[in-house]
Parts: sequence; structure tokens; C-alpha cells
Amino acid sequence: MQINLQRQPIENVEAEAVILPVFEDRREDRLGLGELYDAGEIKGKPFEMTLLHQPPGLRAKRLLAAGAGKPDKFDAAEMRKVAGAAIRHLKGKSITHAALYLDPDSANAAFAAAAVEGAITGEFEPDRYKTDKKDAKSVETFTVAAAAGVPDLEAAVERARLAAEAQNFARTLANEPANRLTPIVLADHARRMAEEFGLEFEALDRDRMQQLGMGSLLGVAMGSAEPPALIILRYRPAVVQEGSAHLGLVGKGVTFDTGGISIKPAEGMEKMKYDMAGGAAMIGAMRAIAQLRPAIPVTALVPAVENMPGSRAQRPGDIVTAMSGKSIEVINTDAEGRLILADALCYARQIGCTHLVDAATLTGAIVVALGHYNVGLFANDEALRDRVMSAARAEGEKMWPMPLEDDYKEYLKSAFADIPNVGGRWGGAITAAMFLKEFADPTPWVHLDIAGTAWLDEGKPFMAKGPTGLPVRTMVRLAMDWGA
Ligand code: BES
Ligand code: MN
Ligand code: ZN
Repeated sequence: MQINLQRQPIENVEAEAVILPVFEDRREDRLGLGELYDAGEIKGKPFEMTLLHQPPGLRAKRLLAAGAGKPDKFDAAEMRKVAGAAIRHLKGKSITHAALYLDPDSANAAFAAAAVEGAITGEFEPDRYKTDKKDAKSVETFTVAAAAGVPDLEAAVERARLAAEAQNFARTLANEPANRLTPIVLADHARRMAEEFGLEFEALDRDRMQQLGMGSLLGVAMGSAEPPALIILRYRPAVVQEGSAHLGLVGKGVTFDTGGISIKPAEGMEKMKYDMAGGAAMIGAMRAIAQLRPAIPVTALVPAVENMPGSRAQRPGDIVTAMSGKSIEVINTDAEGRLILADALCYARQIGCTHLVDAATLTGAIVVALGHYNVGLFANDEALRDRVMSAARAEGEKMWPMPLEDDYKEYLKSAFADIPNVGGRWGGAITAAMFLKEFADPTPWVHLDIAGTAWLDEGKPFMAKGPTGLPVRTMVRLAMDWGA
């Protein structure tokens, strides 16, 4: 999708359709909309779409009055959704050139960026493998329009474009089925992206991981014929300030999670192709970071494995030794995410990352706790938690702080090793995070459990069913705002 900026009053905007957000309890009088309000045909409810042809006084052929809800609740996050819903509506009408008009009260960088992000992420369809694309339509250009005299929007629009394209890149990866995206193929995608945007790429193979003592990660890989890879992408600014932070972005990269010997039920197992969504998000974030060039070094680490119950698979009761030297009793082979992240977090610290954020589709328990609307956020460091929370808020990627306290260690006791890989029945998302903490401490670290938020089971007006690309934009903003 091509992104443009136009400085025009709404009457003069050039496009096939101009999108104008309209509100509840605020009668819009322009362009003949007043009559429709009076007739009750437009109420301004969220995502209500009214397409008008040749409204009087408009240069564009069509006006799309896009319901935006109550005006006092309208913020950048709502703008993002309204823009996405409008684009999805226009797509269905075969419109290829759309513009969104920002009224003076919303003509600022945050709203312009949100409109662009909403349009680009709304345009995305997970239809790569459909051979019949007769009905697959796309909006080719999206223009942000605002009257002359509002402040400069260029930089915000460009940054939003790069972040949203990175998000869609992550969604494309997360949506790939496991037969077409093995750990090695995921590494290939990361390498090609790195070559295109000028990042350093490296992938550790099984032998190298063995030398490094990554027994926890390698144990998970045992059951699959597909070799594992630890994917590493490095960004360095031209000048690294003395004492600079070095951000490590660690993403769970399980290309398919059968559960292993502790096998999952058949029902819904197909969704487990998304178990590398955290890894995809960190690779996606690096794509934007490479182009936007933040002030601090950023390294992404994605342990990529397939969790299968092959004849060499690890068994419940097996004891593995992680790179840190800790022994782990594998009580349940389906708790594999924490096993691969343990070694990745440890390695991230060894190569000099001073601050860590991981994203992982880690537990069903976080979906029970928070549903599909909030990422579960765990932290061992308040300052880093605050940075991530404020980046998330600015990007409309909702996150909710969860507890991480020593009391929960009671649930993580093994008779035969230093630590078991699962707690009991209670607080499953928390015990998973407590397990990771053992390997992240004392480095400042935030863990994002995205099991409930990385995938939409049903499409929304503003986003297709399937991978969401969370938390790509939060990671990009976190890196960009760090040095600034
Ligand atoms: N990838 C899953 C997490 C998951 C489960 C995401 C269900 C979405 C829906 C993870 O590897 C897993 O299997 N976790 C187990 C942990 C349990 C064995 C302690 C879970 O949550 O059931
Ligand atoms: Mn699992
Ligand atoms: Zn998993």
C-alpha cells in the first residue's frame, strides 16, 4: 500500500473516496451529512459505515462517513481502528485510492500515524494460499489529508508506515503453516530481511548450541526431524554512546507445538502454527528498527524449534541442564516455550544485552486470566516495565501488569532437579514467568505472554482473522524512545 500526505481542505482532497470520522451525539453538518443524522441514518456508532456518492461540494467521487463513537473517547487507538475498518469497507467496494481527512482537532502526529497504521494493518489479508483470488481486492493508495497550517506530519507518517509494514511482515510469518515454515525456513526469512535492510544475521546450529551447553533448548528439539536454529539479528547505531543500554528482544519461535510426548488434543491443534508469533514479532520489529535507526544497539534472538513427539523426543521426567548450569526436570513436554527461552535469555545476557524483553505465546493460563484483549506483562525491573507500558499505551497494544513475586516459587519445586518446568494447577502464567525469571535475573527484563493476543480467532471490522502482529509496534517504539 502506498502512503501519501495531502494538504487540502476536505472539499479538494483527491481520491476515489474520502473517509471522514463522524461521531455519536455530534451532528455533522458538512457535505450533506446533517440530513442523514436528522433521519437517524447516521448515528456515529463505532465502525458504522455510510458511503455517499457525489456529495455536494466534494471533489472526490465518494465520501465514507466512518462511525467513530463518542467524541470524548476518540483517541489515537480509536482512530487506528476506524481507519482500519474504513479501509476494509472500501476494499469490499473495489475502491483502490482512499484518503482519510483529519479535522483540525485531530490533525496531529499521533492521529496521522494511527490512521496510517490502521490502514496498512486493516488492508492485510491472510490469503496467501488461496488460489482463487477473484474476490481479493486491495486498496492501493492511502492518503492522509489535512488542511494547510497544521504542523508537520511527514515524519510521523513515515515512521507509522515502516512500523505497520513490519507488523504485517510479522503477521505473514506467523500465518505460515508449519510444513512451509520450519526453524530453518524461519531463519532464511530472517536472513533475507537482514540482507535487505542492513542488519547482521547469524544462526546458531545444533553443534554450536551443544558447545554452548544449551541443553534446555536442545531437549525440545529432540523429537523433531527438523533441526533447530537460534536466530540472531543485530542492529548497531553508527555511534554507540559510552555506557549505552543494549536492548535484547527475545521471541519464542516454536514453528509447531504438538505438545511433544505430553501431546495436545486434536481439537484446535492447527492453531499451534502460531507458536512462533513472538519470534516473528521480534524479527518484524528489527525490520522497522533497521530503517528507523534508534540510538541504542538492539539484538533480536529467536530460538526456533519444532515441538514433536518423534522417537528421539524427550520424555516427562527427563532432566536437562540449561546453559546457566541449572538442572530442569521436564514434567510436561508441552511446557516447551520456557525451556527454549531459558537458554535464549541466558545467551542474550552473555552477548552483552543489558535489558531484555521477551514475547511468547507461552500459556493458555494467560488467556484464562486476561482474555484476548491484554498482553500479560511480567517484569523484574520497574523502570523497564514503565518504558514498555508507556510504549504499549502509545501504540494501542494493550498490556496488563501481572505479579512476579517469590511467593510463587512455592509452586515450582522439583524433588530431583533444581527446578521443574511446570508449576501446579494455579497461576499457570505466573509460574511460567517465574521459571523464566530464574534465567533472566539479575538483568532487567520484561516478559510478554501473548498467547491470547497474537491471534484473532474471529475477524474484527478493522483486522482480518489470524495473526495480529503484536507486539511489533511497541518494540519499535521502545527502541526509538530509548535514547531520545
Ligand atoms: N504454546 C502453548 C501455549 C498456548 C496454549 C497458547 C493454548 C494458546 C493456547 C504452550 O507451549 C503450552 O503448551 N503451554 C501449556 C503449559 C502447561 C503444560 C503447563 C499450557 O498453557 O497448557
Ligand atoms: Mn506447548
Ligand atoms: Zn508452545
